[in-house]
Amino acid sequence: MRHLKLSLLAAGIGILLSVPACTPSVSDSGDTWLKGTAEEKFDRIAEQLGGFDATMMSVSHKYQELYWAGQDKNWDYAAYQIEEMREEIERGIERRPERAESAQMIFPALDQMEEAITARDAALFDQRFTGLTATCNTCHRQEDMAFIAVAPPQQRLSIVQPLSDE
Ligand code: HEC
Repeated sequence: MRHLKLSLLAAGIGILLSVPACTPSVSDSGDTWLKGTAEEKFDRIAEQLGGFDATMMSVSHKYQELYWAGQDKNWDYAAYQIEEMREEIERGIERRPERAESAQMIFPALDQMEEAITARDAALFDQRFTGLTATCNTCHRQEDMAFIAVAPPQQRLSIVQPLSDE
């Protein structure tokens, strides 16, 4: 029995050791869309990730989800959206450092939003949401994007359902 186990173990190790030989080699000859030198590949990936526009499309989604989370008094979902929004903007700043200075204004607005969520205060939520919206638009003006004026959503598009026990 013991011998059988040992030989099975040996066979297992043998298979593991042979795996690298089967791993496809990293080369430009394959059908990957990432061609060229390592630097060129990284550049291409960075381009595919998008700039601040990609950040904003995601932030815009989270802003709307946050709004309905507040209307539903789904506080856990609201807290989750705030956290995600913060991280999304931080990643956006990392990709586009030239936006960093004006982007700072969003963080106090998110902190204030979070206060309302932690307090589970629907009236305060609405008040702070107005403040958050104003901050979005102030930054747009500051970044020469005054034509992007956002407002709280009028129609529910969120597929996340109100909690049944609220
Ligand atoms: C740095 C300050 C800044 C803040 C803060 C900011 N935005 Fe933006 N936003 C921008 C810039 C810059 C663009 C244009 C993106 C680009 O092309 O690089 C933009 C674009 C947008 C767009 C258009 C996206 C598209 O391409 O479809 C929407 C929608 C948007 N922002 C929503 C928001 C919302 C909602 C908030 C607040 C929660 C917000 N933004 C906060 C700077 C900001």
